[in-house]
Amino acid sequence: MTSFWSFWTSIIILGTIFGSLWLLYIVRKSEPFKTETDQSVGHEFDGIEELDNPMPNWWVIMFVATCIWGFGYAILYPTLGNYEGLLGWTSTGQWEEEVAQADEKYAPIFAKYAATPIAALAKDSEAMKVGQRLFANNCAVCHGSSGRGALGFPNLTDDDWLYGGEPETIKQTLLLGRNGQMPAKGLKPDMTNSDVNDLTHYLLAFSNRSDDAAAVERGGKMFQTACVACHGADAKGVQAIGAPNLTDNIWLYGSSAAKITQTLLHGRAGVMPAQEQALGQEKVHLLAAYVYSLSQE
Ligand code: HEC
Ligand code: HEC
Repeated sequence: MTSFWSFWTSIIILGTIFGSLWLLYIVRKSEPFKTETDQSVGHEFDGIEELDNPMPNWWVIMFVATCIWGFGYAILYPTLGNYEGLLGWTSTGQWEEEVAQADEKYAPIFAKYAATPIAALAKDSEAMKVGQRLFANNCAVCHGSSGRGALGFPNLTDDDWLYGGEPETIKQTLLLGRNGQMPAKGLKPDMTNSDVNDLTHYLLAFSNRSDDAAAVERGGKMFQTACVACHGADAKGVQAIGAPNLTDNIWLYGSSAAKITQTLLHGRAGVMPAQEQALGQEKVHLLAAYVYSLSQE
């Protein structure tokens, strides 16, 4: 906060506290602890008269107590602009302390899980409950709470893998992240729109969805020049670079002709963020087991 805003907010907070007390003081009655007077202020509505009574004591005491509490709080905790408070409390400090306590408490459990091979860990239902919670907190935003994915985010519950579904491969995916690179128009940037249309037909034909045999044939030829290096001669994909199988009718970016054409024209670049720094080896190990378990059911 700049010193202007620091000053400004402090003035407002302190001004409110002392302004309220001052207001209370100037409207006080000369005999504050005398409760009832019969003095009328001269207003009368339908036979009901307004009397000039002092405020009830309990109310005044509570009001003053609240002001004292507020002032005390402002002195002890970081309330007034950049002033840090006498107790030195910070929200990050509290968070770090809680995390440190939790880490200490759960470290032995994670250490035990980390020593168990992934495939065996995937069968441990207690461990999988912990894994599910980790997944909900760290992965569900992209892959969905059930791991079924969404457009652009792969389904982790089927046995179709971009990078491979072996336990160690999954762990590698999580630790280091992945970066899918599908270049626009493959290896032939001078490709025409009609080439793209042919290729779309070629891909649709794998699921019997093309009605243009000539286009399929032309597309197949183009595929062998522009695409084969990554997706393989049979278009079944290459897991080492995350090039998907294009023949199984499972689509990361949508199955329609329009979506496929869009992929070919503009390319795609899916990013799976690396988790090594964020979660650490042991949690990643447990999550790899959880992901592995999803596709085993
Ligand atoms: C910001 C979104 C995002 C988050 C968060 C995320 N992922 Fe991913 N993940 C992706 C995307 C996108 C891909 C596909 C990458 C590609 O297209 O190459 C992917 C790929 C994967 C793969 C590879 C799937 C395959 O078919 O090979 C696995 C496994 C995976 N994620 C698991 C996880 C786990 C476990 C977490 C939680 C720690 C997680 N992801 C968090 C977006 C995310
Ligand atoms: C440099 C390697 C490379 C080349 C060349 C390449 N691709 Fe890809 N392709 C990929 C990768 C990697 C992905 C996955 C992208 C992602 O995960 O975001 C992909 C994704 C796709 C998809 C989306 C699949 C889905 O499930 O939604 C289609 C369709 C596709 N490629 C078709 C082609 C065609 C047709 C060609 C030739 C014109 C081609 N690719 C050339 C690497 C390549």
